[in-house]
Amino acid sequence: MRTLIIGGTGLISTAITRLLVERGDDVTAFNRGLTAPRIPEGVEQMRGDRKDYGAFEAAMRTAGPFDCVIDMVCFAPGDAESAVRAFAGRAGQLIFCSTVDVYAKPADRYPVTEAQARRPVSGYGRGKARCEDILLGADERGEPAVTVIRPAFTYGEGGSVVHTFGWGTEYLDRIRQGKPIVVHGDGSSLWVACHVEDVGRAFVAAAGNQATFGKAYHVTGEEWMTWNRYYEGIAEGMDAPTPTLVHIPTELLGRAAPTRAGVCVDNFQFNNIFDNSAAARDLGFRYTISWLEGVRRTVAWLDEHGRIDGSDDPFHDRLIAAWQRLGEDMAREMDPQN
Ligand SMILES: NC(=O)c1ccc[n+]([C@@H]2O[C@H](COP(=O)([O-])OP(=O)(O)OC[C@H]3O[C@@H](n4cnc5c(N)ncnc54)[C@H](OP(=O)(O)O)[C@@H]3O)[C@@H](O)[C@H]2O)c1
Repeated sequence: MRTLIIGGTGLISTAITRLLVERGDDVTAFNRGLTAPRIPEGVEQMRGDRKDYGAFEAAMRTAGPFDCVIDMVCFAPGDAESAVRAFAGRAGQLIFCSTVDVYAKPADRYPVTEAQARRPVSGYGRGKARCEDILLGADERGEPAVTVIRPAFTYGEGGSVVHTFGWGTEYLDRIRQGKPIVVHGDGSSLWVACHVEDVGRAFVAAAGNQATFGKAYHVTGEEWMTWNRYYEGIAEGMDAPTPTLVHIPTELLGRAAPTRAGVCVDNFQFNNIFDNSAAARDLGFRYTISWLEGVRRTVAWLDEHGRIDGSDDPFHDRLIAAWQRLGEDMAREMDPQN
């Protein structure tokens, strides 16, 4: 199969590219050449910016046709419209990498199924939902056939693991050093994590698979972990001491550190669990890499590449100290004898 991947050298797309090559596809990766590639030799590399719509579409006109195009860098309606212009009549299928953030947080029912209404609450989720609409509209005209894949949090070698305040690696150093870890709320909201190889296998199984045309699939982790368990799993995977978790109400984090806490206020404080049965049926999706195993692999890669930042940022300790003072002030003010 002749397969184009837009991206191809990123976190998830590297796994997809490798697995496509393993399957024997003739693979082309289109990207700007800014990200250091970790993909096999033999993958044809095309340079360009997909945001430069005119140049991108002209390049695709001469590079195509493709049996399948996997679009990993489509976030805004303009990107999706450009993809339709580029690939209508020139690709047998377009696979759009969407996200579970197209659903409302909190959702009405769990686990969330693909049949549930999409009511995105973030700009990112709204952009992806609009792209889905544009691309599934093109699918109805068969120009081209479209498959939508909605991963949830996906991690692995080449990236890091998220934490209450986002994506930096300093949390890993704090855990390794046995320093206390701030957790949003009581740490009991449910979260999933899926390793790039499991997610990548689902994309490859979708490529060229007519059963997937016009449909959307969740491809997400299947260990429904509380955030408390998530952090304990990181510590176990790093052979670090069991972390001391400092629980602070999410709303308070949002007031004390609105920028850093934005992601836990908007997202992590709510349950994020999804039904993968459609992907299991049509894509043979299996969750095979446990959180513990995935953490081990990811941390080994980060260590090997010197990518774990030191935990010198005083933010976390200041926050914990302020929270403890608040508790003491409250107890004094309320006089627990009464
Ligand atoms: N990781 C998660 O938890 C998660 C969850 C749900 C959905 N997703 C979705 O997964 C996709 C990200 O895939 P990924 O992990 O492979 O991405 P990534 O790690 O962010 O890498 C981006 C890839 O796209 C290329 N690229 C970026 N901007 C480009 C542009 N303007 N034109 C051409 N190429 C460009 C990059 O190479 P150059 O820098 O060399 O251009 C690189 O190959 C997104 O659509 C995201 O919404 C991720």
